[in-house]
Amino acid sequence: MVIEGMDGVGKSTQAVCLMERLRGEGERVLLTKEPGGTEIGEQIRALLLDKRHTRMCVETELFLYMASRSQLIFEVIRPALRVGKVVISDRYVLSSLVYQGFAGGLGVEEVQQVARLATKGLQPDLMIVLDLPLQVALRRVSGGGDRMECKGEGFFRKVREGYLSLADGSLARRVEVVDALGEVEEVAERVYGVWCRHFRG
Ligand code: TYD
Repeated sequence: MVIEGMDGVGKSTQAVCLMERLRGEGERVLLTKEPGGTEIGEQIRALLLDKRHTRMCVETELFLYMASRSQLIFEVIRPALRVGKVVISDRYVLSSLVYQGFAGGLGVEEVQQVARLATKGLQPDLMIVLDLPLQVALRRVSGGGDRMECKGEGFFRKVREGYLSLADGSLARRVEVVDALGEVEEVAERVYGVWCRHFRG
């Protein structure tokens, strides 16, 4: 399963909460975070988030995120799935659809095509999108931030709109939007509730 949402919604915290809860119940869980997670991926991550790269075009961005993802799938995710682990991924293809396809203007369908190649069709069974009002999320993004976080309010307005419209559209069956306002424990309870409904019926 995948945890998604715009910068500042608390994905990483919630991914760890869910992992700990499931481990406590005896599940074997692997937590991954994109971009990165492999030696090659970490180098790609450094390129992507370096603020000095002000001239990186959105196509380059897309292929770098996808390259990091391909390597992670090959080295880490597929092997974990093969031995029956639950994989929780902090971001996956939906991030590229939203950030590069929707907000970045490359087109959601075009990015989907690249994703099919990059992932060899590996799709998550569940995507949880954490959602916050734009101003609340922006306030939480650490001061200054990385190259992506410097893109400005207009870009992030589109990111949020992208998540909500894709969650409502073609991906609706596998995407659940969760309200991320509130204490960490409250949000964790909501995320766990969605996970249980989905996987334990
Ligand atoms: P990171 O510091 O990991 O942010 P977060 O903790 O919010 O996930 O940086 C990841 C940045 O990369 C984030 O701004 C979102 C962006 N991103 C894309 O634009 N496309 C993608 O495919 C992925 C995986 C991330």
